[in-house]
Amino acid sequence: MHSHRATFATTAIACLVTLAGCGEPGDSAVNSASVGNFNAPTATTDATTGEGSRAYAMYCVGCHGSDGDGNGPAARFLRPRPRNFQRANFKFSSTRAGQLPMDEDLSRTITEGLKGTAMSGWKLLPPHTVTALVEHIKTFSTKWDGQARAIALPQDNDPYRTTPDKTQAIARGERIYHGYAACWMCHPSYISASAINRHLVALENPASDTFRDHLHQSVATPNTEGEVLFAPDFRRDFVRAGEDVASLYRSIAAGITGTAMPMWIDSMDVPKANASGQLVTPGDLWAMAYYVQSLIQQRPDRITADLSNQYTPRDRPQRILAPGETPTPPPQEPSAPTEEFLEDDEEETPQPSNSDHQTNHAAENGS
Ligand code: HEC
Ligand code: HEC
Repeated sequence: MHSHRATFATTAIACLVTLAGCGEPGDSAVNSASVGNFNAPTATTDATTGEGSRAYAMYCVGCHGSDGDGNGPAARFLRPRPRNFQRANFKFSSTRAGQLPMDEDLSRTITEGLKGTAMSGWKLLPPHTVTALVEHIKTFSTKWDGQARAIALPQDNDPYRTTPDKTQAIARGERIYHGYAACWMCHPSYISASAINRHLVALENPASDTFRDHLHQSVATPNTEGEVLFAPDFRRDFVRAGEDVASLYRSIAAGITGTAMPMWIDSMDVPKANASGQLVTPGDLWAMAYYVQSLIQQRPDRITADLSNQYTPRDRPQRILAPGETPTPPPQEPSAPTEEFLEDDEEETPQPSNSDHQTNHAAENGS
């Protein structure tokens, strides 16, 4: 809901500004001149009057805050919260988890937005403004000073690229997802426990007697700033940084900095134990990306009366389980608001908001 409203508002503002700034025919000359000015060594002027800071003050402060601390006036209503540029833990990048992103990653996020969050896409901003915004974002953290440029992970090695039929890729992806990487520690499993065991054994792992509770639901984990995030259930939740295979590959290979989502690029070169040949290869990262995309494509594309089968925000009231934690029965919701509910809760624990959700929640737990 927030994200839709934000989209309309920001689109309207962007339209106005685009109209105001793009009238003249000599526009491209103006554009490159302003980019040139921005990069000129007069840093103090740029910080306050440059194109980046002007655009930031116009479009971004409301959420990201004038100090870039992610605490703009709208931030308290948003979950996930706007990124804190002072900490510079950027989530979606083509660089290894923990490294600063490439400029291209930041401009892609600004242009495309992050689906399912308040961060809308700023497609109407001209490219030189996006470039200036990227530079401006970097002024909020000293992490960027004198950093050697990170190197993007290879993204041109998709072994399935030229095969039109992706059935094999998807089947391989299902095997690696469940039998090797155990993505279902946080994301749901999409197959039965015995089918997981078949994949485990096929990949030279021992079969398991026990699996976590609620194996077909996702688990929530806190990020480094204490905000609780659900690993998406690909059959119902949005992924944020793009549903194309390359974007899914990027998130899986590089991990999502500051969250529980690990980086996989270094774990994909496993030889067979007792024979020659590879058990797991870097190409299997692509297989998982195709598999995840196939799950996304099973998502219902409209809201139905069946509450268990529709888009819901990822922070829906569901028991929050740490990996390996045993669930306790959900607490009874009090019939009238208690003091606890009325308190301004700093920790923003997700609270069941109405009885529908509660019913849904109970049904989910019972399944
Ligand atoms: C309506 C609120 C809102 C506005 C306006 C907004 N953002 Fe965001 N932005 C967010 C939220 C929320 C997130 C965090 C999403 C997440 O964690 O998945 C975010 C995340 C980001 C990120 C981090 C991406 C990453 O990889 O971690 C960047 C960069 C960013 N915004 C840039 C901008 C810029 C530049 C503008 C202005 C043109 C802007 N945002 C305007 C809400 C907003
Ligand atoms: C330890 C927990 C954990 C494990 C294991 C894990 N993930 Fe994630 N994953 C997360 C969390 C948490 C997020 C959501 C981060 C956020 O909200 O921005 C996520 C997000 C994602 C996304 C969404 C990216 C986007 O654009 O929003 C994809 C795709 C993904 N994971 C794939 C995988 C795959 C494939 C595996 C196994 C190879 C895996 N994950 C293993 C916790 C995990």
